[in-house]
Amino acid sequence: MRPIRNIVILTGAGVSAESGIDTFRDAGGLWEQHRVEDVATPEAFARDPDLVLRFYDMRRSAVQEKEPNAAHRALARLDAEWPHGLLIVTQNVDDLHERAGAKRVLHMHGEHLNAWCTACDARSPWSAPLLDRPPCPACGERALRPDVVWFGEMPYRMDEIYDALRACDLFVSIGTSGAVYPAAGFVRNARDLGARTLELNLEPSQGSLWFDECRHGPATEVVPAWVEGMLARV
Ligand code: OAD
Repeated sequence: MRPIRNIVILTGAGVSAESGIDTFRDAGGLWEQHRVEDVATPEAFARDPDLVLRFYDMRRSAVQEKEPNAAHRALARLDAEWPHGLLIVTQNVDDLHERAGAKRVLHMHGEHLNAWCTACDARSPWSAPLLDRPPCPACGERALRPDVVWFGEMPYRMDEIYDALRACDLFVSIGTSGAVYPAAGFVRNARDLGARTLELNLEPSQGSLWFDECRHGPATEVVPAWVEGMLARV
């Protein structure tokens, strides 16, 4: 087996669950409370922008009251201390990886705390509501939308992600159900190129069979334990 130098870590809603942020597909999750077609597609935004903006305003406000948990902190420590390549690709739109101190983070589904101007294409840091149509800080047009990837839109920075997957020796998936592509396919991209693959999740995910190893339990327990083991090799 080749030595482990470059690591790609994919995170999903499960890593933030113990911070009090709802997952999408667990019992009582966001997609049980709201229909995807009503709040998370470009068509929904065109049909009923107030409903969509209100949904994201609530979530943007809620994430600002949450705190990183032991899993975010452990990953930030790994990021700081791992001497080789490492990339945390997150599907999450919260900022808890960053607030825990992680630097090498890529948000493939966008970020709650950004607004995207559909008039001038600028992205601006944003923590306030969008429902009252505030002007874009860059161009002044009242054309801001959440900077979150909706169903039917292309996730961000896919070239960088595939480059990292090609170069990785270990691919780790944390707290994601494996239900949404392209993220759900990363494990197969990585293993086809010879990387080892590890799943850390509360329970077996839809993609568990693709992993060399699975460790099941709450992220705040399994992630710090795995990070300890990795840093013991340094
Ligand atoms: P899901 O809600 O689909 O899956 C969350 C996963 O986390 C499940 O497999 C749970 O078993 C697991 N989980 C729950 N609590 C956990 C805990 N305490 N510790 C560890 N694991 C836990 O969320 P994602 O896979 O992130 O996309 O969803 C992927 C994408 O679907 C999201 O980014 C979002 C959503 O629709 C967009 O909005 C574009």
